[in-house]
Amino acid sequence: MNFMSVGTTGIEASRLILGCMRMSELSVAEAAEVLTAAHASGINFYDHADIYGGGKSETVFAQAAKAAGLKRDELFLQSKVGIRKGFFDFSKEHIVSSVEGILDRLETDHLDFLLLHRPDTLVEPEEVAAAFEHLEQSGKVKYFGVSNQNPMQIELLQKYVPMKLQANQLQFGPAHTPMVDAGFNVNMFDEAGLNRDGSILDYSRLKEMTIQPWSPFQVDLSQGLFIKHPAYQELTAKLQAYADERGVTLEAIVMAWILRHPAMMQPIVGSMNPERITKMCEGITVELSRQEWYDIYLSAGNSLP
Ligand SMILES: NC(=O)c1ccc[n+]([C@@H]2O[C@H](COP(=O)([O-])OP(=O)(O)OC[C@H]3O[C@@H](n4cnc5c(N)ncnc54)[C@H](OP(=O)(O)O)[C@@H]3O)[C@@H](O)[C@H]2O)c1
Repeated sequence: MNFMSVGTTGIEASRLILGCMRMSELSVAEAAEVLTAAHASGINFYDHADIYGGGKSETVFAQAAKAAGLKRDELFLQSKVGIRKGFFDFSKEHIVSSVEGILDRLETDHLDFLLLHRPDTLVEPEEVAAAFEHLEQSGKVKYFGVSNQNPMQIELLQKYVPMKLQANQLQFGPAHTPMVDAGFNVNMFDEAGLNRDGSILDYSRLKEMTIQPWSPFQVDLSQGLFIKHPAYQELTAKLQAYADERGVTLEAIVMAWILRHPAMMQPIVGSMNPERITKMCEGITVELSRQEWYDIYLSAGNSLP
């Protein structure tokens, strides 16, 4: 495993994050096997949200971490708040009470990172600032960030929030690339030129804010895994060919492709299969050339101007 700072924190976080969204579907014994495999491969950073499994993912994680013998001070725990049934809520009261629930479920006294899960258009940034200050001063959260936010939404928050927002979760993977497509097609009429995110990729690099790509194997929230999708057969074949050449799995090549981008992203993998996780981590050692990176990009049906 390789390690990196998240944003400007200087911490030594693993390049890959294990996402625990699907952990609620596992027994504690199964989850302990997943955590043992992740830990053995060097993963020390775990992503949660208060809504995953209605809170059950965090409860199962806490029990599984104990069963797997993981020590709290060797782990970075991150969770997200702000999504409620039918609305988003960035009020101080909701942020603070959600964190208290998370700490209870994770059986810990602090989170390493707290992210705001999805933008709330009714956000009052002074409220977010008050919530974050309270959480930092009480020792309940060390670092803060956002998720699915564009540069202007982040700028608005940063006008009031005194602590630097260190991370932003955004979907990114070989079958989901709007972040880079727009950059290739500046000022063009074609669909790929649509700037859907306010140039978040370049903004993040300028601000030293870590992008944590979520669902790297999915096309989007509704179309599922790209490897099973008829529109991505060429991409899947291309990745498999590179995997065979390097003696690793297709999933490892997907990780290598994301890590090859100099933005120093920290992908979140959601597999709950211990063997798949172990093999995926081998992607850390695979170096793709510039030409190979573009070859994979083009095989997903993209074109360059
Ligand atoms: N901020 C946000 O809005 C947001 C949104 C979504 C997710 N997330 C975070 O991102 C994490 C990852 O999301 P994700 O789980 O959607 O990511 P993912 O890693 O793209 O997908 C994981 C799923 O794909 C399956 N899979 C992977 N390779 C496979 C293969 N070769 N054959 C069959 N199935 C395969 C896994 O099954 P197995 O378990 O069998 O391997 C698992 O069900 C989440 O846990 C969460 O922490 C954040």
